[in-house]
Amino acid sequence: MNMSSRSPDRPLERVVHVPLGERAYDILIGPGLIGRAGGEITSRLRGRKAAIITDEHVAPLYLEALMDSLQTDGIEAVSLTLPAGEKTKSLEHLATVTDMVLSARIERNDAVIALGGGVIGDLAGFAAGIVRRGVRFVQIPTTLLAQVDSSVGGKTGVNTRHGKNLLGVFHQPDLVLADTSALDTLSEREFRAGYAEVAKYGLIDKPDFFVWLEKNWKHVFEGGPERIEAIAVSCQAKADVVVEDERETGRRALLNLGHTFGHALEAATDYDSSRLVHGEGVAIGMVLAHQFSARLNLASPDDAQRVAAHLKAAGLPTSMNDIPGELPPTERLLEAITQDKKVKSGKLTFILTRGIGQSFVADDVPSSEVLGFLEEKRPK
Ligand SMILES: NC(=O)c1ccc[n+]([C@@H]2O[C@H](COP(=O)([O-])OP(=O)(O)OC[C@H]3O[C@@H](n4cnc5c(N)ncnc54)[C@H](O)[C@@H]3O)[C@@H](O)[C@H]2O)c1
Ligand SMILES: [Zn+2]
Repeated sequence: MNMSSRSPDRPLERVVHVPLGERAYDILIGPGLIGRAGGEITSRLRGRKAAIITDEHVAPLYLEALMDSLQTDGIEAVSLTLPAGEKTKSLEHLATVTDMVLSARIERNDAVIALGGGVIGDLAGFAAGIVRRGVRFVQIPTTLLAQVDSSVGGKTGVNTRHGKNLLGVFHQPDLVLADTSALDTLSEREFRAGYAEVAKYGLIDKPDFFVWLEKNWKHVFEGGPERIEAIAVSCQAKADVVVEDERETGRRALLNLGHTFGHALEAATDYDSSRLVHGEGVAIGMVLAHQFSARLNLASPDDAQRVAAHLKAAGLPTSMNDIPGELPPTERLLEAITQDKKVKSGKLTFILTRGIGQSFVADDVPSSEVLGFLEEKRPK
């Protein structure tokens, strides 16, 4: 496994390098990075113009500090503040963003900067990927989910009425600045939701990291060096997978641990964030994936128990019973799953596990098994 390195002048800061040849980039992780963004950008990018895309929750908190820092380092920046929330990941907003970026005369060496969570990152990244067939792109993720997941790897996109993330391009960022102090203003619920993705990296193939999280999760929530450590390990884990399989033809699918069940539950609750947010669906989905693996005699039921106990301790939901309101019938849940996945003659692809940190891609799971399992687990 590659290890993130420490920065010589800033002992708290971590650097994860993503070695993708011409598309290689650094992820810097530490406190106060927004206030130093200008220097970090000018030392890596040639252009001296930037278009910042952000949302209405993040702008009042961090936009001024970012603009000041860019100005200090001689970058001429303009900004666009969009409504917060998943609905902003739309073609309409993509048009607004690309128009603004073109009006700002951003050239290929200049940068689009995403300042916000995954919604802003996916939207601004898509714009950066298509304006002039690709301009520079800097991610400044401000949610835990965006810092450990969406800002790394180059997937960008918007939603359409046909489903989530159906239009998009691969466009790697040129730099990621994960300012860990920005997470202090995040709601507890959003932080927890991002934490589910942190735990996911342990459950995929890092059993020691999962054990470390079982011991240290409280410090990760409180901030300080453990938070930086957890984010660095997560970014490294994602980077390793992305480098091996940039365009998701194989191993990158492991990142979907818990997501098949999770996405089905998100669909079953009509993407109503008052009932379930993505990371909560993933938390329940990871527990279900472990329970399902136990049912198929691949893993011990004790592992499923252990995963549930940890996520529950961190305040996450761990079973369908924890979702407020009624769920649709089991057949509809299965339908949501088969829509999420390619079905080959009644067989489904799932991420299953042989135990903590031993996940694998199984592409021959009979849908009848899934139906039986869901029947057993769904709230009575
Ligand atoms: N590209 C990828 O590889 C990838 C991976 C995972 C998820 N995603 C996408 O990411 C999106 C979800 O991202 P998200 O969970 O960050 O949601 P989000 O961007 O909607 O942010 C969640 C909420 O937190 C607010 N917020 C952001 N930073 C804040 C801060 N520092 N302080 C206070 N409030 C803050 C936002 O305004 C928003 O209301 C989804 O659209 C998902 O599809 C993409
Ligand atoms: Zn996810």
